[in-house]
Amino acid sequence: MTAPLRIAVAGLGTVGAGLLRLLADNADPIAQRCGRRIVVAAVSARDRARDRGVALDGIAWHDDAARMAAEADVDVFVELIGGGEGVARRAIEAALGRGKPVVTANKALLALHGVALARLAEAKGAALAYEAAVAGGIPVIKALREGLAGNRVRRVYGILNGTCNFILTQMRRTGKPFTEVLAGAQKLGYAEADPSFDVDGIDAAHKLAILAAVAFGAEVDFAGIHVEGIREVGALDIEYAGELGYRIKLLGLARMTENGLEQRVHPCMVPLETPIAHVEDVFNAVVVEGDFVGRVVLEGRGAGAGPTASAVVADLMDIARGRPTTTFAVPASTLARARVAPMDLHRGAYYIRLMVADRPGVIADVTAALRDEAVSLESMLQRGRHPDEAVPVVLTTHETEEAAMRRALDRIARLGTVREKPRLIRIEAL
Ligand SMILES: NC(=O)c1ccc[n+]([C@@H]2O[C@H](COP(=O)([O-])OP(=O)(O)OC[C@H]3O[C@@H](n4cnc5c(N)ncnc54)[C@H](OP(=O)(O)O)[C@@H]3O)[C@@H](O)[C@H]2O)c1
Repeated sequence: MTAPLRIAVAGLGTVGAGLLRLLADNADPIAQRCGRRIVVAAVSARDRARDRGVALDGIAWHDDAARMAAEADVDVFVELIGGGEGVARRAIEAALGRGKPVVTANKALLALHGVALARLAEAKGAALAYEAAVAGGIPVIKALREGLAGNRVRRVYGILNGTCNFILTQMRRTGKPFTEVLAGAQKLGYAEADPSFDVDGIDAAHKLAILAAVAFGAEVDFAGIHVEGIREVGALDIEYAGELGYRIKLLGLARMTENGLEQRVHPCMVPLETPIAHVEDVFNAVVVEGDFVGRVVLEGRGAGAGPTASAVVADLMDIARGRPTTTFAVPASTLARARVAPMDLHRGAYYIRLMVADRPGVIADVTAALRDEAVSLESMLQRGRHPDEAVPVVLTTHETEEAAMRRALDRIARLGTVREKPRLIRIEAL
């Protein structure tokens, strides 16, 4: 057997400790499969005294992760600290700078600085691998880069944030509003104390930016993503979605259009007959549509110690086998700078929910605003008669342009009879 692959691991939290556990438990099959052992030679974290439930005997401890990356006598540097700036970035740059391959789970860093890091990796002839950064345990980067490599990708989309999927699933099952379900998710440890990264769609957007780069050979463009989170999804919307034959999911979607690369993260009405509508709780799913393969659906756990460590180990095994990988599927120097497709030009169908005064003439005003913007209605639901209260009116439209829909909605929102901010959810043709 060849000499062991010696690795340095920076960060021993959920993922780092999970990685050490996996490498210890599955040491034999891993060695058999890649022809050499993977040995943890050095580690770094903040608190040396903390019990992490994993044996650290005989492993060199470093207080300074960037210094470990720059100096440790290892073959690979594994970054599991996190954060788009700071020590994670410095450490990865230091490792790549000395030609050491890097494995990371850091989606924020790749979404913000992926192109520069890919260029550095290429210049130094070192791999930069990040399977764990997108959809945790689902091997989607490998699928795109290898199994589906012969295709032109038409579209890639998915449920990329387990916290949001858990919240939306619970809202549907219990009928409770967002804030109440979020508080429950926080108690269960499925949502952070500060949930904004997840519920405002930023985490999903980080992953989408990376997926789109791999799928379309384009520079990572986080700033070019249209991002909306799930805070405004109401219990009523979830109920109406069911009645209309949909589930509400937070999706990240990317496709190349005649206007440029369209990247969007927002709540979507997903038809019940599609597989992704049934991906529930904390599960993630990614769907790739290729020109020759058609639709490929991958589902699994997008986070957690085990699934994320599983993805980190797959990258390490590629390096152990000496299999070269190109960071974003094409050489960094040939990544295209794609135009951003303006959201105003997006075309799709819409679900609109209004809370209106129960008075004659209200619907006529609403439909006039839609007619003037050439937005064509597909269906309308109005229920309940409460003369003193606002009642819900739900409209769905045929395909129309986003800008026209927005203009119509602005006018509708200003009607004296419309009592709350109108809710808009895009209906996706999947
Ligand atoms: N958790 C998941 O399910 C998941 C899934 C996919 C991707 N990821 C990504 O994986 C990465 C790690 O996430 P995590 O959940 O494992 O985070 P975590 O549990 O918060 O662990 C972070 C680790 O980094 C260490 N650390 C922080 N600052 C450091 C510094 N300056 N120098 C050295 N070590 C430092 C911490 O040390 P102490 O332990 O001493 O405090 C801790 O061990 C992130 O990029 C995250 O986005 C996580």
